[in-house]
Amino acid sequence: MTQHIGVLTSGGDCPGLNAAIRGLSKAAREHYGMRVTGFLNGFRGLAQDQTVEIDSAMLSGILTDGGTILGTSRDKPHRMNIGGKMLDMTDAVVATYQRHHLDALVCLGGGGTQKNALRLVEAGLNVVTLPKTIDNDIALTDRSFGFDTALQIATEAVDRLHSTATSHERIIVVEVMGHRAGWLALEAGIAGGADVILLPEIPYDVEKIAAAIRRRTQCGKRFSIVVVAEGAMSTADAAEVEAMVNARDQAESKKSRAEFSAKLQNFHDEHVGQTINLTRKLEQLTGQESRLTILGHLQRGGTPSAADRVFATWLGTACAETLNARNFGVMLALQGGVLKHVPISEVAGNKRLVPLDHPLIASGRLVGTSFGD
Ligand code: F6P
Repeated sequence: MTQHIGVLTSGGDCPGLNAAIRGLSKAAREHYGMRVTGFLNGFRGLAQDQTVEIDSAMLSGILTDGGTILGTSRDKPHRMNIGGKMLDMTDAVVATYQRHHLDALVCLGGGGTQKNALRLVEAGLNVVTLPKTIDNDIALTDRSFGFDTALQIATEAVDRLHSTATSHERIIVVEVMGHRAGWLALEAGIAGGADVILLPEIPYDVEKIAAAIRRRTQCGKRFSIVVVAEGAMSTADAAEVEAMVNARDQAESKKSRAEFSAKLQNFHDEHVGQTINLTRKLEQLTGQESRLTILGHLQRGGTPSAADRVFATWLGTACAETLNARNFGVMLALQGGVLKHVPISEVAGNKRLVPLDHPLIASGRLVGTSFGD
């Protein structure tokens, strides 16, 4: 019987985490009679045994709250900064799990969390995960909670930018989050009627974007809205990344693979902020005044949308059923409108990117949107 479970939230926060914690804990406690212990600040709380007992008072009124009542961090069990030193804390994590006599651990998180959860499965723990991220890029699930709210916020921003872009006859470039996937940019761009949408999956040519904007000007449309995913890249940058990925994948020793991975990470880190260069370049090429808006963490804050509350609650309660059935080592995934159990081992390390033949790309092209290619 599953009697005592642990729960933690890890990675970037997002709207819907509290709704999921509430759904899980209410069903686990009140329906299945389980005890629920929360671990604070992601895997750090598990490594350092920082806990909170989840009772009904803690769950009251949190459905509509953004963020997470448990706190979160990007700490990894196998590489954690403890007093300035990067230490492997996997044994400490296992020891905490055993000290509390947990029957299972629930990890709410995105792609990084799924990888960390897999490490704990391999260390012998019973783990179940739930898919959370505004990026919507977790493998094997059609949706992750948090995405819908972020999409609404980004869409509202694009709507609002239209009136100021029109009044000043400007190009407004809007950078949205999404890490290395383009779901948020694609859907916010389509919903907001962006004139150009740039995705990490479709490397762009700045001359082609400028040509699309000039065509609009020739038709008498004196403003343009460009929605850019933070991970979008020019064809030249994308070619450089591809060369580094190939070199890493072909490297023979673990050491040189690690060196290529570090180089790749540096490249991505330095790429942050490139949208300002794109905005300047568009101004030069079109002669039209241009401005940049970076939406940033606004997209992750505040109350979850109705759809995210519903989805997160459903995932939480289904997770309690999964724990009761002692079905471990799985992530709950939405596939074709139903919740399925998928092995964490098949999710970890895989990313769900926008496929180039996605119908929304075709739809965008049919309403005249440029994808910069
Ligand atoms: O994964 C969610 C996300 O918001 C990404 O879209 C973004 O790249 C990243 O997290 C930002 O992370 P942080 O909050 O650590 O700056």
